[in-house]
Amino acid sequence: MDFGTLAIFFLCSFFATKFLYQWFKVNLQINLPPGPPRWPLVGNLLQLGPLPHRDLAAFCEKYGPLVYLKLGNVDAITTNDPEIIREILVRQDDVFASRPRTLAAAHLAYNSGDVALAPMGPKWKRMRRICMEHLLTTKRLELFASHRADEAHHLVQDVLARARTNKPINLREVLGAFSMNNVTRMLLGKQYFGAGTAGPQEALEFMHITHELFWLLGLIYLGDYLPFWRWIDPYGCEKKMREVEKRVDDFHNKIIEEHRKVRKSNDDGEMDFVDVLLSLPGEHGNKHMDDVEVKALIQDMIAAATDTSAVTNEWAMAEVIKHPRVLHKIQQELDTIVGPNRLVIESDLPHLNYLRCVVRETFRMHPAGPFLIPHESLRPTTINGYDIPTGTRVFINTHGLGRNPMVWDNVDEFYPERHWPLDGSRVEISHGSDFKILPFSAGKRRCPGAPLGVVFVLMGLARLFHAFDWLPPDGMKASEIDTMEVYGMTMPKAQPLMALAKPRLASHLYL
Ligand code: HEM
Repeated sequence: MDFGTLAIFFLCSFFATKFLYQWFKVNLQINLPPGPPRWPLVGNLLQLGPLPHRDLAAFCEKYGPLVYLKLGNVDAITTNDPEIIREILVRQDDVFASRPRTLAAAHLAYNSGDVALAPMGPKWKRMRRICMEHLLTTKRLELFASHRADEAHHLVQDVLARARTNKPINLREVLGAFSMNNVTRMLLGKQYFGAGTAGPQEALEFMHITHELFWLLGLIYLGDYLPFWRWIDPYGCEKKMREVEKRVDDFHNKIIEEHRKVRKSNDDGEMDFVDVLLSLPGEHGNKHMDDVEVKALIQDMIAAATDTSAVTNEWAMAEVIKHPRVLHKIQQELDTIVGPNRLVIESDLPHLNYLRCVVRETFRMHPAGPFLIPHESLRPTTINGYDIPTGTRVFINTHGLGRNPMVWDNVDEFYPERHWPLDGSRVEISHGSDFKILPFSAGKRRCPGAPLGVVFVLMGLARLFHAFDWLPPDGMKASEIDTMEVYGMTMPKAQPLMALAKPRLASHLYL
């Protein structure tokens, strides 16, 4: 054996021993939760298909309520079980309230400088406090009530105009514009679709950027799990992220510039969120917040508020049109509580208990996102006697929770009555102490926009069901409406919902 061969032999032995040592150390010394067998290097990555939430739910069915996965070089756990979820989000909130530093967070959320994707730490606390104390306060949301009322009216008029063509209406377009306008009015002081809009070019640019942003944020990018993937990046994902990062940043700079030109004073009721952010003091005694912080918050509000409510509304409409019995009951309730002589207003919403059941049932079957935003553990801990290492990524499968047969009967049946409280009390949408649905999460990372999100969803649906009758497009039976989803940060219907609308109230109410 010559010297070269000997050297290669020793090198190979060294790396093999090191690999085996690591493998034994990780897999035998600590008691990890059960999970599917994994391949060297890629771990379980190849076992995930285009609908990973369904794959992970199948693992839970096979291996138990808490499953361990190795995704490339990342430790991960997943669950669809209410008790384990309670353990993670409530009992061990301090351990699990962080977020992984993904490449999407680096490129598309100002280097995790926002709220939603920021790891746990003083920066996240400060940004979250700004949201809670300055943007999403009850008082500020009340100030925007008249804008929301305008948008609710605009929604009805938009559907009426489309209904008059006697053609099927693309509800994804209608509901997307409703959410987007609600958010941009509050955030930027502009409506993007409809009368008095910011202009078609700007609206198109805004929609396009938002869609690209969403697509990239929802991607499972292999570079986050296999560092060598980043060198190859065969689909150019990171390049795309950098391009979108630049365009989004330019867009936000423009917004800030426009707002600086027309500064409004603190006591002006017309201040939008950007005005508020520009009026706040910065860190370390600085007179103003840093522009990057302002941009990161604008970004979060758009991303977190727009698609979540639009996707939920489209699913609710799809399920209700698919089940005419449910539509009939919703309209009976609306006719009793609101009556035929006016349109729904926000103060009606707490009294629409059956519609609230419908929204809960929609969240059970079609949560806005298939998983919560991934959490990450800050230190080693145990769950149910199993060891969970530091830096474990946590996939809480809300889609799997709503369809877990250990938790719900007839999981694939859309049956709002299952949420009807026996004592007739008001149906709660945003939280439930039993953790059987989790639309807005719980613990430190729970959604700070939940009350507003509930209003966007209930108001959109109440107006559309009160003001119109709904049927599937000509020739299609209600039962044929498809309910297949696509995976992403949010989980929309695979095909946009098309339906026919017929006005059902006196014509002067639509003016
Ligand atoms: C139907 C509407 C909505 C749904 C279903 C929804 C749901 C959620 C969920 C599931 C999370 C992740 C929680 C976790 O990872 O544990 C979240 C986070 C968040 N949501 Fe919402 N949301 C909605 C509307 C809104 C609105 C209207 C806003 C603000 C205007 C908002 C702002 C946020 C923010 C900032 C976070 C990040 C919180 C953090 O990481 O500390 N959301 N939301």
